[in-house]
Amino acid sequence: MARNRRGDKDRGLFLDPLIPDEIDRSRIPTHVACVMDGNGRWASRRGLPRTDGHAAGEEALVDAVDGALELGIEWITMYAFSTENWRRPADEVRYLMGFNESLLMRRRDELNDKGVRIRFAGRRDWRVPRRVLKRMDEAAELTKDNRTCTLTMAFNYGGRAEIIDAVKAMVAEGIKPDKIDERALRKHLYWPEMPDPDLVVRTSGEHRVSNYLLWEIAYSELIFPDVLWPDFRRTDLYEAVLEFQRRERRYGGLEE
Ligand code: IPE
Ligand code: IPE
Ligand code: MG
Repeated sequence: MARNRRGDKDRGLFLDPLIPDEIDRSRIPTHVACVMDGNGRWASRRGLPRTDGHAAGEEALVDAVDGALELGIEWITMYAFSTENWRRPADEVRYLMGFNESLLMRRRDELNDKGVRIRFAGRRDWRVPRRVLKRMDEAAELTKDNRTCTLTMAFNYGGRAEIIDAVKAMVAEGIKPDKIDERALRKHLYWPEMPDPDLVVRTSGEHRVSNYLLWEIAYSELIFPDVLWPDFRRTDLYEAVLEFQRRERRYGGLEE
């Protein structure tokens, strides 16, 4: 049966004792987006092939989702493969395709049991093997009625590609220039109803966006912890949320 952590949160209770007392239950971000970076460095530091770093990232992903469920975060988006990652050596790309396929098979049932809706954002182009697309569709179909948390996997995703795809769709619909505004464009993004991320967490100490959710992160708070993705755990997510709560969001206006 799906746990409903939100119900617990609404009663003012966090069940996970690792959640810091200072976290303000009334200001939990609605949407957290992560750039799971540093897998290759994690492996190299251990004298392992880069692909072992990707494999080790699975535990981090699952623990981060558990942490999001504990906090009552309703939307979590994970950057799994960018439109630029095709530039990597063919065997790493092949590994990543197979890894994402097998990860879905290994994890979809437990995520489903936890009430997680799995979705994908990105281009379904010819480069993504058909059997990977099939697993993606299966996972999405299996979990489509879940509402505790939506886990969007950004896969073959690029922020510029998403904006271009939205513009193409608007042109194809014959929308007149004077009808083009932010609302119209948003309606043509991959998941129009997905709220913009409140918080973006990029691990591994890299301070850049790398084509992630370019439209959606206009006013997101950005946090860049040094931890390499395979070492990321829910406690790192809790720390990021604490840091988020220390920030003051102004949206171009002035402090209240
Ligand atoms: C992130 O880790 C995973 C993907 C891009 C798929 P990297 O593979 O980029 O790891 P580093 O940045 O080389 O350490
Ligand atoms: C961004 O990380 C993409 C993912 C984590 C999937 P990269 O490692 O590909 O980004 P750059 O190349 O360092 O900017
Ligand atoms: Mg990287």
